[in-house]
Amino acid sequence: MTIPTLTFSRPDDMHLHVRDGDAMRSVVPMTARQFARAIIMPNLRPPITTVEQAGEYLRRILSAVPQGITFTPLMVLYLTDKTTADEIRKAKASGFVHAVKYYPAGATTNSDSGVTDLAHADAALLEMEKCGLPLLLHGEVTDADIDIFDRETVFVEQKLVNLRRRYPALRMVLEHITTKEAAQFVMDAPAHVAATITPQHMLYNRNAIFKGGIRPHYYCLPILKREEDRKALIAAAISGSPKFFLGTDSAPHAKHDKESCCGHAGCFTAHAALELYAQVFENANAIDKLPDFAAKYGAQFYGLPINAGTVTLRKESWIPAAQFSLGSDEIVPMDAGEALAWKLIT
Ligand code: NCD
Ligand code: ZN
Ligand code: ZN
Repeated sequence: MTIPTLTFSRPDDMHLHVRDGDAMRSVVPMTARQFARAIIMPNLRPPITTVEQAGEYLRRILSAVPQGITFTPLMVLYLTDKTTADEIRKAKASGFVHAVKYYPAGATTNSDSGVTDLAHADAALLEMEKCGLPLLLHGEVTDADIDIFDRETVFVEQKLVNLRRRYPALRMVLEHITTKEAAQFVMDAPAHVAATITPQHMLYNRNAIFKGGIRPHYYCLPILKREEDRKALIAAAISGSPKFFLGTDSAPHAKHDKESCCGHAGCFTAHAALELYAQVFENANAIDKLPDFAAKYGAQFYGLPINAGTVTLRKESWIPAAQFSLGSDEIVPMDAGEALAWKLIT
């Protein structure tokens, strides 16, 4: 019997957190082993708000890439109330800044410098619309009276609809979508509106956070949703629509920050991201749709060439390490101790 394998162009992770310093040096090699490029989220403390900072961060990330591996970080600026049209023009001209990220103030990890009112960012957004630099959205409202499970849907209905109206030509990626409403919005939108989908939101519904007790490694933002949402995300991912592509949102937090009385939001999946997606696609009888989702549609959206070189996944059960080092700390990946059905052959 021959063992099934799947070979395709080196993929891109179009939503990734690598942090900085020692933690960054621990996680960058894991992503570089799997992906040729990644959209690097700018939510550091302080955030990456200028092209100059993005250039310095780029060099630090490159210095963490192991010898012999080619990996290109695609840099992103963090939009604030103070981002100027001039900075947007500089970003576009830099060639290494590929997008600008919108975090509603207070919505997620390190988002205190985020936008308090989109009207404050009007000049920057108009310039982005003009020069074609995409806006990446953490799509959640933060009002205390909105249920945490409704934050994305309310964002889509109240904010996104207005954004589309005010900036009709603005290229947008609704990041880490989690609901059927978000999937439908993107499906119905024109080609310059896209979405990334994480492995956790396709593998699990919100029961995973509470299975037999509270499970911090399944807590991320936007939070896992209902089963019908999970199904809608899988349907979008395997639909063959180029508007949906891979973005892990792998978000490293030290074990003691996750397993805590106020645990941080974020699932760590960089150690086995492709294998987790392969599981999703195989479960949906659509493993043949994985290559374009992982290696083509994201590149197309960002106007980048398909990567040279290939990766190969083999149908082989294996159990990843249950813990890794994160600088001088430890990190626990999602699904620690559980077997995966596919294995990336390096
Ligand atoms: C991300 C992080 O830790 O930086 N956390 C998360 O739960 N997704 C931030 C984000 O992407 O919203
Ligand atoms: Zn986010
Ligand atoms: Zn993220």
